[in-house]
Amino acid sequence: MKKLLETLKGKNFKTPPIWLMRQAGRYLPEYREIRKEASNFLELCYNPKLASEITLQPIRRFGFDGAIIFSDILVIPDALGVDVNFVKNIGPQLSKTLKESDLIKFKEDNILKHLKPVFENIKLVKDGLDDDKTLIGFSGSPWTIATYMIEGGSSKKFDDIRRIAIKDKDFFQKLIDILVNSISIYLIEQIKSGVDVIKIFDSWAGILPESEFKKWVIEPNKKIIQNIKNIYPNVPIILFTKGAGTMYEEVAVNTDCDALAIDQCVSKKWAKDILQNKHNKIIQGNLDNITLTLDVDYALNEVKNILDHFNDKPFIFNLGHGILPDTPIENVEKIINFIKNYQ
Ligand code: CP3
Repeated sequence: MKKLLETLKGKNFKTPPIWLMRQAGRYLPEYREIRKEASNFLELCYNPKLASEITLQPIRRFGFDGAIIFSDILVIPDALGVDVNFVKNIGPQLSKTLKESDLIKFKEDNILKHLKPVFENIKLVKDGLDDDKTLIGFSGSPWTIATYMIEGGSSKKFDDIRRIAIKDKDFFQKLIDILVNSISIYLIEQIKSGVDVIKIFDSWAGILPESEFKKWVIEPNKKIIQNIKNIYPNVPIILFTKGAGTMYEEVAVNTDCDALAIDQCVSKKWAKDILQNKHNKIIQGNLDNITLTLDVDYALNEVKNILDHFNDKPFIFNLGHGILPDTPIENVEKIINFIKNYQ
């Protein structure tokens, strides 16, 4: 029985299923070892043998209930033909000159062909995964992927995209529509290849004011979820609109997602009352990732508080954002052990 999948279908267990955002990655020595084999990060994402091995590493080590395919949200602009580079110690870099005339050059028809290694990865992981584990496919959301395409990489202030989304909204709408279409095709093919669950990462949802949030977070995610549910009505979808605050309620009401991944800044009482009880959404979250790098007793106390709030309804334990590279492995082991013995 797949505990994570069953939870997403509404079953409530004595202790919740566990997985961690960015659970495959640099805090694991076995990841760092494989990382050496590929000169650049995207090469690793497009190598099904290595990517499937990396996907399975945290499952073997910790026995998590969910395996998330090893890839990145930026494979979508890469597949569209944008120049994407991951530069050591800096992060992703994309050409920063995106303009309306570039949009027709985008290779939307190329998505499935270019991302074939991801689908191969899914098939390999499926073969190596025990029956009680849930396989999670993912994509970035249109808005979050667009931030990288407009800002040319990671951004702290997001000034350019916030300006363009208002000032050049016809151009911006066209870009978002291309992303909605590409992401829908990509996620549907992931399901065809064998994933049990989909997660959409809208990591930068939280920087928008209400009116823009509705246009660029709610609408595009809603369309993608509809596109998927039209074909696969029974595949659960987790939506992570990081930083959305009280706008999480709009996300709950206006999209057909099954679960909301909440970040650490969301009040647990509010999330319980509004998201879990009033709108019947499954909650995933929301331990502050920094706690796992500190005194573990502090983290355990926080974990207990989270479980006390959410565990009487279907709930998935996770972090509020990705695990940090300097997280000690024994802290991860300790919280897993604590959760498994929670009563
Ligand atoms: O274990 C997993 O969760 C699966 C793999 C995964 C990666 N990226 C691998 C990765 C997933 C789900 C992602 C999602 C992702 N990528 C997001 C959304 C989630 C979030 O954290 O908000 C975002 C915004 C990105 C974009 C991205 N990828 C950035 C900004 C960076 C550089 C900063 C960093 O964390 O290193 C990456 C690189 C990246 N993606 C690495 C990994 C393991 C590190 C690259 C390396 O090992 O050299």
